[in-house]
Amino acid sequence: MRLHSKSVEETEALGATLASHLHSGSIVLLAGDLGAGKTQFVKGLARALGVAEHITSPTFNLMVEHATPTGTLRHFDLYRLERAADLDDIDYFGLLEDDAVSVVEWGDKFACALPRDYLLVDCALVPGLPDERLIELSAHGPKSEKLLAAWAHAASRQAPEEQRPARRQAPEERGRLGEHPPPEEQSHDA
Ligand SMILES: Nc1ncnc2c1ncn2[C@@H]1O[C@H](COP(=O)(O)OP(=O)(O)OP(=O)(O)O)[C@@H](O)[C@H]1O
Ligand SMILES: [Mg+2]
Repeated sequence: MRLHSKSVEETEALGATLASHLHSGSIVLLAGDLGAGKTQFVKGLARALGVAEHITSPTFNLMVEHATPTGTLRHFDLYRLERAADLDDIDYFGLLEDDAVSVVEWGDKFACALPRDYLLVDCALVPGLPDERLIELSAHGPKSEKLLAAWAHAASRQAPEEQRPARRQAPEERGRLGEHPPPEEQSHDA
């Protein structure tokens, strides 16, 4: 399912609508280049779960835990990790398997180390339209299929026409940024 966001607020609202369908153990991987809107999406999601703290990409600490009234939200950012083996150092799979809700920026970075069941939220820039983003959702596993179906059903009842699934674009139309500069040269927070 592909959605079209026309503003930061719309991206946050999408994250917020997903929040109400998450369960303990839900895993949401966020993909897309620098500035694609992953953290903005997480901001909306976290706020809707009741997180009061300011949300930024946890680029340097790799994972931040937030208490919510319904349990723990873990926010990972794998951008700085160089090898899949480094995931063991932060007990990534152990943490994903417990009762928290996990959201993982750059969660598709290591194709050989994807969780068993996850919802993928793939954000992309739109060339020439700095305030727009395409957000593609896909389920990978039975739990996330149920989650996506519930979310899509709710979204289709709430969203205005322009928020509904947009036409599929060819890869070359998508607004990907080029090579990333080294992490220390970037401002990595929204
Ligand atoms: N429709 C939109 N949705 C989300 N962000 C938008 C949108 N339009 C403009 N923006 C801007 O794009 C930037 C998105 O930043 P954000 O930190 O969410 O990206 P990110 O994907 O998390 O990047 P990084 O990989 O560096 O963590 C923000 O500066 C935000 O204001
Ligand atoms: Mg981010």
